[in-house]
Amino acid sequence: MNFEFQKLSLSHAMTASVDALVVLWPSQVQPDTQAVEPVSRLVAQAIAYGDFELKAGAVLSLYSQPGLAARHVVVACSADHQPGQIRSAMQAAWGVLKAGKIKRLGLHVVGEASVQGLQMALSSLADASYSYTTTLSKPKARTLKQVQVSATHDRVELRQAVVQAQALVAGVELAKEWANRPANHATPTHLAETAKSIASGRAFKCEVLGPKEVAKLGMGAFMAVAQGAAEPLRFIVLRYNGAAATQAPVVLVGKGITFDSGGISMKPAAEMDEMKYDMGGAASVLGVFKALGELKPRVNVVGLIPATENMPDGLAVKPGDVVTSMSGQTIEILNTDAEGRLVLCDALTYAERFKPQAVIDIATLTGACVIALGAVRTGLFSSDDVLALQLQHAGEASGDTCWRMPLDDDYAEGLKSRFADVANVAGRAAGSVTAAKFLQRFTKSFAWAHLDIAGTAWRSGAAKGATGRPVGLLLQYLLTLAQETPAVKSHGKSKAAVKSGVKGKAKSRTAGKA
Ligand code: BES
Ligand code: MN
Ligand code: ZN
Repeated sequence: MNFEFQKLSLSHAMTASVDALVVLWPSQVQPDTQAVEPVSRLVAQAIAYGDFELKAGAVLSLYSQPGLAARHVVVACSADHQPGQIRSAMQAAWGVLKAGKIKRLGLHVVGEASVQGLQMALSSLADASYSYTTTLSKPKARTLKQVQVSATHDRVELRQAVVQAQALVAGVELAKEWANRPANHATPTHLAETAKSIASGRAFKCEVLGPKEVAKLGMGAFMAVAQGAAEPLRFIVLRYNGAAATQAPVVLVGKGITFDSGGISMKPAAEMDEMKYDMGGAASVLGVFKALGELKPRVNVVGLIPATENMPDGLAVKPGDVVTSMSGQTIEILNTDAEGRLVLCDALTYAERFKPQAVIDIATLTGACVIALGAVRTGLFSSDDVLALQLQHAGEASGDTCWRMPLDDDYAEGLKSRFADVANVAGRAAGSVTAAKFLQRFTKSFAWAHLDIAGTAWRSGAAKGATGRPVGLLLQYLLTLAQETPAVKSHGKSKAAVKSGVKGKAKSRTAGKA
C-alpha cells in the first residue's frame, strides 16, 4: 500500500479524486451549518435529526452526494484524536467501506493531526483491510492500493509519520504473511529464502547456516530441538548497517519454530494448528528488517533467527535427555515442549560476538504469558531498567504495548536439576517468568530484554490471524535510537532526515561512516 500526504482544507479534501473518503472528526469540532462544503452541513443536519452524535466510533455514511468528488464519504468520530479512539474510528469507517471496491482512499483529519494519530490511523486501516490469500485457490485480492492523507496543516513530522507508516505497514504485513502461512508453506528453508530476498539489493546482508555449521558452532540445545524434524534447521543472520561501524548494534533474536507439536511431550490436538504461529518472533524480525530497508535509519541492527520444527520422531530428543548448549552450560530437557528457550539460548550466546548495545529476543514462548496478560499487552522481561523503559515507551508511542514482568532470582529455584546445570522447565507457577529466568542465564554479557508475544502475535477464533506484533514496538524503539544517534556531518542529507535520523539517500550512508 502506498501512502501520500497533502496539506488540504476540508473543502479541498472534498474535491480530491478518490473512490472513498474517510473524514476523522474530533468531538470538540462543531460542524459549521453555513459551510460551503457539503460535509459540514450534512453532519450538522444528521446531528440535528439525532441520527448522528460526535461520539467515539460513530460513523455517518454519505453516498453520491452533490459536491463530493468521492462516491462514498464516511465521517468517523475520533473523540479527542487519541490513538485508541482513532483506531476505533478507522475500524468503524472501514466496516462501512469494506464491501466496496475501493482502490484510492482519501483520509482527511479535521482539527489537530498528530504523528501518533496519523500512524495509528494508517496502521489500523491497513490492519482492517488486510486479508490472507496465499494458499486460497480463488483469493479475493485487496483492492485498496493508495491512501491520500490530508490535514489542514503541514509539518515535517506529519509527512515523516506518513512515510514511516508506509514502511511500518510493509513490515507488519510481511510478518503477518509469514506467520499466517501454514507450516508446510513456511518451513525453516522458506524463512531463510525470505530473509535473503529482503536483504537482496538492500543495505544489509543475510547469511544462512545449515545443520553442519550449527553443529560446528556447538549449538547443542538448538540441535536437540531440530533432531526430531525431517525439515532441516536454518540459522538466519541478518545485518543492517545504518550507522558508523563503531556503533554497537542492537540484536533482535526471533523464535522460529515453524511448527510446535510439542515433540515427545506432545501437545493435545485441540488448536494444535495454531502452533504454525510459533515462528511469530522470527516473522517480526523479518518485518522489522523489511521496514529498516525502506527507512534506512541511522542504527546498526543484527537479526538472528533459529528456525526449526519441533516434532516427535524415533530420533527426537526425549524427556530427561541432557544436552550441552553453545555457552557450555548443560541442560536437562524435562519437557520437549519447552523448546523455544532451547533454540533461543544458543542464539543468545551467538549474539555475544556482535558486542551489542542491547539484545532483544521475541518469542511466542509460554502459554502462561497468555494467562497473565491475554491478547492486549506483550510480556516484557528485562535485566536492564533503561532498556525496559525504552521498550515500554516505544510500546505506548506505537500503540503496540507491553507490560514489564519481574525477574527476581527466587523465580529460578524450580529450574534446578540434579543431572545438568539447569532444567528447561520449572513448575506450573509463574511459567512465563521461569522461562525468562532460563533465558537470562545466557545473557550475562549484554543488556537484554525478552518479549513474550504468545498472547499478542495472533488472534484465535473466528478472526484467526497473525497481528504482525511487535513490529510496531520494535520499529519505534529503533527509530527513536536512530534519532538519538548524533548526525555525522555529511552532504546531501535533508534537514528532516537529519532530525529524524532517517537517511534520504544511500549516498549519505558512506558519508555517515567517514
Ligand atoms: N509455543 C509454546 C507456547 C505457546 C502455547 C504459545 C500456547 C501460545 C499458545 C511453547 O513452546 C510451549 O509449548 N510452552 C510450554 C512450556 C511448558 C512446557 C513449560 C507451555 O507454555 O505450555
Ligand atoms: Mn512448545
Ligand atoms: Zn513453542
